[in-house]
This record gives sequence, structure tokens and C-alpha cells, in this order.
Amino acid sequence: IDPTLDLVAEIDRLRREKNAIILAHYYQDGEIQDLADFVGDSLDLSRKAAATDADMIVFCGVRFMGEVAKILSPGKIVVIPDAEAGCSLEESCRPEPFAAFRAKHPDHIAVTYINCSADIKALSDVIVTSSNAEVIVNALPKDKPILFAPDRHLGGYIARKTGREMTLWPGSCLIHEQFSEKELVKLKVRHPNALVAAHPECPEAVVAHADYVGSTKGILDYVVKTDAAEFIIATEPHIIHQMTKAAPHKTFIPAPFADGACASCADCPFMARNTLEKIYLAMANAAPALTVPEELRVRALKPLERMLEMSA
Ligand code: 13P
Repeated sequence: IDPTLDLVAEIDRLRREKNAIILAHYYQDGEIQDLADFVGDSLDLSRKAAATDADMIVFCGVRFMGEVAKILSPGKIVVIPDAEAGCSLEESCRPEPFAAFRAKHPDHIAVTYINCSADIKALSDVIVTSSNAEVIVNALPKDKPILFAPDRHLGGYIARKTGREMTLWPGSCLIHEQFSEKELVKLKVRHPNALVAAHPECPEAVVAHADYVGSTKGILDYVVKTDAAEFIIATEPHIIHQMTKAAPHKTFIPAPFADGACASCADCPFMARNTLEKIYLAMANAAPALTVPEELRVRALKPLERMLEMSA
């Protein structure tokens, strides 16, 4: 790439030329969030991808999110800036062991977190995100036990909230897993008026200290509407970009890992693979483009559509 290129202007030009929509997750760099047409949590991004009339969807997040967009909008070109932007939850749950897990519990309903591959979605009864998991689990037939994969912390949180019997897949997010209860308590002592907002992918001991637990969108809405000056944020810290824009006079403190002092250690390394250069190239070259074999897409679509219906 020509180093003198104004990437933001070029991305804008390509957006018009290609009739593209740029979708970004809250965990993206601030500069990517700022040029996106829409910034959202996993559920709102899925809804947007399903509803758009753009010809090209540029999905700035991680690969499974782009894959969901392709499953919901198969006629569109869906590009992602970096094909290697994976997810530790997706990695933790492979089709063969998951199929065996299901076969071992044949009378269970398989409720699966959206952070998984199309193969796992195709083996599931209903997909959930952290913003609709409680509503969906509450709406499932009461006489049936539930299998929940791949995030054991989100699954445990939903089981505690709903009182439902749930067998959990042993996966976790490499970032949320590392927030430290001990360091969080130390931070709370130093900021006694700060409210704690946590993502349900955090371990139970961290969630136990939270004043609010919810999806990225839920956390953002909570800190904006709640009358307090200081918040400790236990999720990937790039969401603080939107918080500062929406509530510039409030203070947002990232929750600490076990080493206490590291400012950017909670940055998701997969989300961080996306850059303006890669977005520009993805749009210019229409690559990397996501493809999902039609037979798999149709099977993965079913539990995703069930999710959208149940969280309407
Ligand atoms: P939400 O944006 O749905 O809260 O999900 C966060 C996440 O885990 C993204 O991978």
C-alpha cells in the first residue's frame, strides 16, 4: 500500500463504489469503530447483517461473526479484514467431540453460544448471545435439560439466573477468563464509589462483584444511563471508546488481570488483527471472502433463525 494513501478516505470511496456496509464489534480499535456504518454487540450485528441491502458486508470483528453474516445473507459478498481472526471459544469446541457430547445426552436441548463455528451451529438446537441467552433459556420447555456450549462461564451464569439444569461444555474466553477477583477487590477499595459492569464470560468470582452483568451493548447502555461517575469495566477494554464518547465526563477503569498493572493485557489478540490497511485491501480485493457450503449453511441457519425469532 502507498504509505501516503489516506486510508479513511479510500475506505469511504470503496464503500460507495462497492455499495458496502462496514459493521464493527465494540472490541475493535477506536479508529475502526469510528469509520463503521454500525457498531454493535453480537446480536445487533447479526440483525444488521440479516437486514442490510448492501452488496458487500465488511465485517470488522472475528471470523465467526463474518460467518454468521454469510449464513444469514448468502447472496452478499462478506469480507473480513483478516482470515486469521479466530476465537478461543470457537477453538475449544470442535465438531467431533461436540457431536459426541450431544450423543451422550440425547434428551437434552443444545443451546449454543454464537461464538462457535458453522459446524457447531449446525449441530445445535438454538443459538444465543450474551444479550438474549436468559430470555431464550427461560422460553425453552421446562421438562427438558439443557446442554450449553462452548462458554462455561456464560452457561453457569445463565443456569444460576434461570434455575435450569444445564450441562456445560468446558470452554472459556482467553481474555475474560483472566480477570482477577483479587485484583478487582483491590481496585474497588481504591475506588469505593465505582460501579462494576461485567460481561458474563467472566468467571463466577468476578461476576459476583458486579453491579451489572450483560453483553457489550448492555454494559454500554448501563454505564451511560446509570447515575454514577466511575465504573470498572470487566470486558475487552476497546468498548471504553464508545463509553467515553457517550459519557465524556464519567471515568471508566478497565478491570485488572492477575498482574494488576497491565493496561492493554485484556486486548483481544484476534480482534486486534484488524487494521485500516487490511480493511482497505479486503474491500479493494473482495477478499478474504467468507464461503459456507450450502448444505452446511442451511443447517446452521435453522438455530440462528430460531435465535432471532426468540429474541425479537
Ligand atoms: P457480545 O458483544 O454479544 O457481548 O459478545 C462479546 C463477545 O464475546 C465477542 O466475541
